[in-house]
Amino acid sequence: MIRVGIVGVTGYTGGELIRILIKHPKVKITGLFSRSAYNKPSAEVFPQFASKLNLICDKPDADIISDKCDLVFLALPHTASMDIAAGLIKSGVRVIDLSADYRIKDLKVYSKFYAVRHKDGGGVKKAVYGLAELFPKEIKKAQLVANPGCYPTAAILSLAPLVSLGIADLSMIVIDAKSGVSGAGKKKAQEFSLSDAKDDFKAYKVGMHQHMPEINQELSRLAGKKVSVTFVPHLLPVYRGILETIYLKKRKKHAGKDIIGIYKKFYRGKPFVRIKNKGEFPSIKDVVNTNFCDIGIKDSGGSIIIVSAIDNLIKGASGQAVENMNIMCGFPETSGLI
Ligand SMILES: NC(=O)c1ccc[n+]([C@@H]2O[C@H](COP(=O)([O-])OP(=O)(O)OC[C@H]3O[C@@H](n4cnc5c(N)ncnc54)[C@H](OP(=O)(O)O)[C@@H]3O)[C@@H](O)[C@H]2O)c1
Repeated sequence: MIRVGIVGVTGYTGGELIRILIKHPKVKITGLFSRSAYNKPSAEVFPQFASKLNLICDKPDADIISDKCDLVFLALPHTASMDIAAGLIKSGVRVIDLSADYRIKDLKVYSKFYAVRHKDGGGVKKAVYGLAELFPKEIKKAQLVANPGCYPTAAILSLAPLVSLGIADLSMIVIDAKSGVSGAGKKKAQEFSLSDAKDDFKAYKVGMHQHMPEINQELSRLAGKKVSVTFVPHLLPVYRGILETIYLKKRKKHAGKDIIGIYKKFYRGKPFVRIKNKGEFPSIKDVVNTNFCDIGIKDSGGSIIIVSAIDNLIKGASGQAVENMNIMCGFPETSGLI
């Protein structure tokens, strides 16, 4: 049994982490850390877990956390994670950060898209990008894992085979992405409630969303050359779930290739990526409350359309974080998740 903790536990992803971890056969939740629920009993803050969890919420302090936990999930907003991660790393705790603080390797790009100067460049260098299907060897050894963003998870998994095998024409890749309101976190989702989103559908941060540099960084790494995608996010009038439709061209010499077959081979042995058969495409309902990323592909010879769906709070956040923990600790990848 390893001792795990969750910091920023009252948020959306913190709640999802509790839900997954209380059923996990190889871990025990030994710490809940919260500013707003400090000193409150877990049964009061999370009555839904009262029969299984009996803790007092602690202060999110690196010394207290490292006394109580071997591994900790930071379910914090960006900038709050970098304030605490360095102290945790120093004390030997393994850290999985759900925020964007350790994802972007170029600190200037981080500052541009997150509007703050990074305080922990050393941590950024050390951090491993935790896309479980693509980088398991690095994740296994990591002390600090930067859990991917929700939109990037669906986008990178959708494009990785075509980009890393040199099949994609990299000159124009269009990612048309849609997310439910929980993608914005608890506070914002309450401000822009579902009733406001109802009967509406809109694009936001067009061509300037903070997940765009993350997608570009990881696709460039897979391609071995610069990739620059067109990325447009939209707000869907649903609570949770992401659906992305991606448009691109194949390089001419690959026109005759069996793309669906290539995807099935690429993700063989990866339990959470499900490639649809020809003519089948995923919907949000297929993946909500699961850690799956479902991918459907339309191959028209010269061009390809990919449709992918994930639950933003699970495969896009807390489920993938647990998947990363499983890899780091040598547990079966699906432990607690299926
Ligand atoms: N929502 C998603 O779909 C999603 C997907 C992927 C990644 N993420 C990322 O995961 C992280 C958590 O997301 P979330 O949706 O759970 O957010 P959230 O619902 O807004 O919760 C974040 C929690 O962090 C704590 N907190 C808030 N402001 C803080 C501050 N200034 N300093 C320290 N702690 C603070 C609060 O918990 P306490 O009061 O308990 O301390 C808050 O409930 C974010 O970085 C987000 O970008 C979210």
